[in-house]
Amino acid sequence: KVTFVSEKTGSAKTCEVGPNDYMLDAADEHRIDLNASCRGGVCGTCVSKLKSGQVDQDWLTVLDDGNVLSQEQIAAGYILPCSAKPLSDCVVEIN
Ligand code: FES
Repeated sequence: KVTFVSEKTGSAKTCEVGPNDYMLDAADEHRIDLNASCRGGVCGTCVSKLKSGQVDQDWLTVLDDGNVLSQEQIAAGYILPCSAKPLSDCVVEIN
């Protein structure tokens, strides 16, 4: 399960996200308002903060295609939901 928490309103929604599903696709399916553009780990629009849990992030895509996230952001827990799959239950703060 992934819980999406809105940074602005604090409202939270939890949904099932399979291990092969990208978090952004799941958010869309459940009508969770998550800003996105490229959907491929390139633009950084979807950047969100992982508050708990673990994800499988396509870091290679991210880093090769123009350093969307800095090493500092990655270390601080920021992820790109469009190219991240959950490895456990997660809580994600979305903008
Ligand atoms: Fe572009 Fe996620 S939508 S990086």
